[in-house]
Amino acid sequence: MALKINVGIIGAKFAGEFHGECLKEIDDAEVIAVSSRNEQVLESFQERFRIPKGYTDYRSMLEDPDIDVVDICLPNYMHTEVAVEAMKAGKHVICEKPFAVTIEDGKRVVETQKTTGRMFFYAEDWIFAPALVRAKEIIAEGGIGEPLYYRGKECHSGSHSIYAQKLKYCGGGAMIHLAVHPIGFFYSLLGMPEKIMGRCSDGGENNLLHKNFEGEDWGIGILTYKNGVKVSVEGNYITTGGMDSFVEIYGSEGLLRIDLTFGSPITAYSRKGYGYAVEKADFTHGWTKPAVDEHASLGYKNELAHFISCIRGKEKQDEGTTAESGLNILRIILEGIYKSHREGREVGF
Ligand SMILES: NC(=O)c1ccc[n+]([C@@H]2O[C@H](COP(=O)([O-])OP(=O)(O)OC[C@H]3O[C@@H](n4cnc5c(N)ncnc54)[C@H](O)[C@@H]3O)[C@@H](O)[C@H]2O)c1
Repeated sequence: MALKINVGIIGAKFAGEFHGECLKEIDDAEVIAVSSRNEQVLESFQERFRIPKGYTDYRSMLEDPDIDVVDICLPNYMHTEVAVEAMKAGKHVICEKPFAVTIEDGKRVVETQKTTGRMFFYAEDWIFAPALVRAKEIIAEGGIGEPLYYRGKECHSGSHSIYAQKLKYCGGGAMIHLAVHPIGFFYSLLGMPEKIMGRCSDGGENNLLHKNFEGEDWGIGILTYKNGVKVSVEGNYITTGGMDSFVEIYGSEGLLRIDLTFGSPITAYSRKGYGYAVEKADFTHGWTKPAVDEHASLGYKNELAHFISCIRGKEKQDEGTTAESGLNILRIILEGIYKSHREGREVGF
């Protein structure tokens, strides 16, 4: 195998940027190509990240024999099509969340992964967030006794991406777009629940705030496991003041609180404001909690380093990132939370 794993990023906006930043720091990886439909965006991305090859059509990138793995940073509805084509073209795949927008699409990815034998990495960064990894260690040591109840949310004031506002592009609202993180993390710890109850605002006019969003701007799910353990998850777009990514784990002998976004060791007071505090915060004046290294604290750096290491054969793939796991996480949302809300009853698995 060549000295470095050659990566091609597809999608050069928000997620493409932070993937590019993280991959830059990984010795075993080299981003040799990027794809964006927009020529200006493409050129600027290539220049800033010093990427030699640029493609306005991702299909041409898939024909490039130098690329080992494609990193899909595209709107949700494109994940399946691109992942399937890439694996058929012989590439390994890293794919942003959510896994897909329908169960049928998700099954196609799982089947293609099996038939092509390519590696597929479902990019749930929370699994690699240092604070959550530490929390897992404390639980494993018995530090909080028997875990009884897990609670997690990711919430902010509304996605920057126009694709997140339309059902056909996103597959849902705040639940599939934001709560997918705590759901993915809890799935990696606990596997599939036995029963699920969900409640959501219904999108459009029925939303709490964002009447122009087709998907829900508020949603909760309650997952019950065979051993009685309870999990609650929440995603909403009505949270001002910056992205709130928070987990609590209650055990028989203690509890854990993990604040991924406002847990900064810095508390700032600024009359004038400054450049950047935390994802989705509108202001930086007054009292703020500036993020120290968001790419590390949210898990992106460790996640991408792990994926590259797996391709090199140096690590075994984390179970929570396989295509099967991605599909199961999607099932919890689509066949669990959304279905339960639609039918007004708890659903079983
Ligand atoms: N893990 C996380 O915390 C996290 C954070 C943000 C976004 N994401 C995920 O990353 C993905 C991208 O989100 P984003 O925020 O970057 O969205 P975005 O709207 O900012 O960017 C998507 C980009 O894809 C481009 N695009 C669309 N069709 C294309 C095509 N055929 N070829 C090339 N480019 C094309 C769009 O023009 C746009 O530039 C989404 O699936 C989102 O859920 C994950």
